[in-house]
Amino acid sequence: LADPTFSEAVVTWQRAHGRHTLPWQNTRDAYRVWLSEIMLQQTQVAAVLGYYARFLERFPTVQDLASAPIEEVMGYWSGLGYYTRARNLHACAVRVVQEYGGVFPADPALLADLPGIGRSTAAAITAFSNGTRAAILDGNVKRVFARVFGVEGYPGEKRIEDGLWRRADALLPEEGIESYTQGLMDLGATLCTRSKPDCGRCPVQSRCVAFATGRTAELPVRKPK
Ligand code: ADE
Repeated sequence: LADPTFSEAVVTWQRAHGRHTLPWQNTRDAYRVWLSEIMLQQTQVAAVLGYYARFLERFPTVQDLASAPIEEVMGYWSGLGYYTRARNLHACAVRVVQEYGGVFPADPALLADLPGIGRSTAAAITAFSNGTRAAILDGNVKRVFARVFGVEGYPGEKRIEDGLWRRADALLPEEGIESYTQGLMDLGATLCTRSKPDCGRCPVQSRCVAFATGRTAELPVRKPK
């Protein structure tokens, strides 16, 4: 049998070793998926769990959130940090209700036009809520790809980031986008960490330029001064 492709290796690993029981998994409710992805921007899972549960209890639907005063929304966000996310969250809920009748659009390009939703978050929302094939490229995934492909440029630079997006698009599987997307996130969060990556357990070790050349500690390169 042929070697698994990159995406096959990630999907198989995710199904065996990835995270499957987070409260925003096992749902296709775009509102719940969206809320989780906004809370998880720059914030770890453990910090999000309690906020996510309290938030959904108070604002179970996008209509509940849209009709709440911003001050109350800020109160439920208090302590989570990056408060622009909470203002954008409320503004986004208002627009989904006013412009889309309370139904999140399925097209990632339309999602990415809403407040607080960038290209990667839009792709994650549609992958998890609709099974749509769209590439993610958040900070963790940039690190995974910079290592796998041995990218020597700074990933925050436009030209380098454009190249990473092209590679991310090219790697997408035909099937299993949910497991693949979650697998990339789980790899970046649990094995392919910034310091001391656990390459011994990595499903794509054999395809990783940084592993092969002993450069995991150097890649991705830091922001140039
Ligand atoms: N970080 C961003 N999205 C995530 C998700 N769906 N699960 C775990 N961590 C994440």
